[in-house]
Amino acid sequence: MHINTNYQNIEETYLFSEIAERVRKYMEKDKGAALIKMGIGDVTRPLCHSAVEAMVKAAEEMGTPEGFHGYGPEQGYDFLREEIADYYQRTSGVKVFSGEVFVSDGAKSDLGNILDIFSVDNVVAVTDPVYPVYVDTNVMAGRKIIKLAATAENDFLPMPTPDLQADIIYLCSPNNPTGAAYDGARLKKWVDYANAHGSVILYDAAYESFISDPDIPRSIYAVDGARSCAIEFCSLSKTAGFTGTRCGYTVVPESLIRDGVQLRKMWLRRQTTKFNGVAYPVQRAAAACLKEKGLAEITENIAYYKENARIMAETFTELGWPFTGGKNSPYLWVKCPNGMRSWAFFDDLLVRANVICTPGSGFGECGEGYVRFTSFNTRDNTIEAMKRIKDIFGQS
Ligand code: MLT
Repeated sequence: MHINTNYQNIEETYLFSEIAERVRKYMEKDKGAALIKMGIGDVTRPLCHSAVEAMVKAAEEMGTPEGFHGYGPEQGYDFLREEIADYYQRTSGVKVFSGEVFVSDGAKSDLGNILDIFSVDNVVAVTDPVYPVYVDTNVMAGRKIIKLAATAENDFLPMPTPDLQADIIYLCSPNNPTGAAYDGARLKKWVDYANAHGSVILYDAAYESFISDPDIPRSIYAVDGARSCAIEFCSLSKTAGFTGTRCGYTVVPESLIRDGVQLRKMWLRRQTTKFNGVAYPVQRAAAACLKEKGLAEITENIAYYKENARIMAETFTELGWPFTGGKNSPYLWVKCPNGMRSWAFFDDLLVRANVICTPGSGFGECGEGYVRFTSFNTRDNTIEAMKRIKDIFGQS
């Protein structure tokens, strides 16, 4: 027996587990600290009324002989797949067929699991800083990874270069962690690159509902040519507050073919073998969120977080701290003051302001000297956190 030694090439703990551990240790020393969490992107608004109503109704159905549901289709019930296809049409004007939509327990799982359908010899390109899941899952599998620097010089939006040789390309827009978002013209260059090189783009659209700028596509399929080179991952976690409820979806277009094989068929085979679907009441709740009434309710919650982001942006502007994001994104990517390093500033904020952020270096080398704040806290906590930061750092 041998273990997968690739695990020795990743950090011992996942970034957000490491943060939770540091905070736990701090709390042992300062038990009364009134911490404000702006670290992990976890939401605070409760589920919308339509979701709760649908979930309760579905749970009641499950308690009757006629309404009971056992195993469902691994790829999701048709009622939700059709609702998602319709959502694409309404929000992005994009035609997605319900048979191309795969319902799952969230984007993070699918982003890792999708690698099952690709050879371990493929070369992977990620941006740096990057959502750690893209890197760690590929290191676990032993793939070669190329890092594309996302810096202030390129607006935190790396572009393909003529010498780039990448088989799998991860793009996240609006980006986690930087909050920067690709407009249609820049995205088109990536789509053209992927089609010309036979690469596949793994497009993480988990934050699409925060986009308000009309030049920024909410789906990569709004870009011509994307259906033959891109798989899109999305989630109701941030869109509808499902971080604890768990529901996401992945779109694999029928016209995405590599080595003569439809990737949609491979993903279907993978999911039917290794996944047993999402709970029926959760799928009913998800569908309710995407219908007209539910959509209006979840849009109010997004607006709430966007107002938090505006308040935060105002504070960082007043302090003269350079930042990006916060406009089409719940994340603000902030340069640490006085040339501080990421973990040093994280500790300083924790101890002096009792505010938790995420150290940028945890997302990659290019994140050193930055921290990420999320706008997912309550309005009161957001205002209080910004007040504490201004009181402490306003004078320095
Ligand atoms: C984050 O804070 O980066 C996200 O919440 C993590 C996730 O969605 O898995």
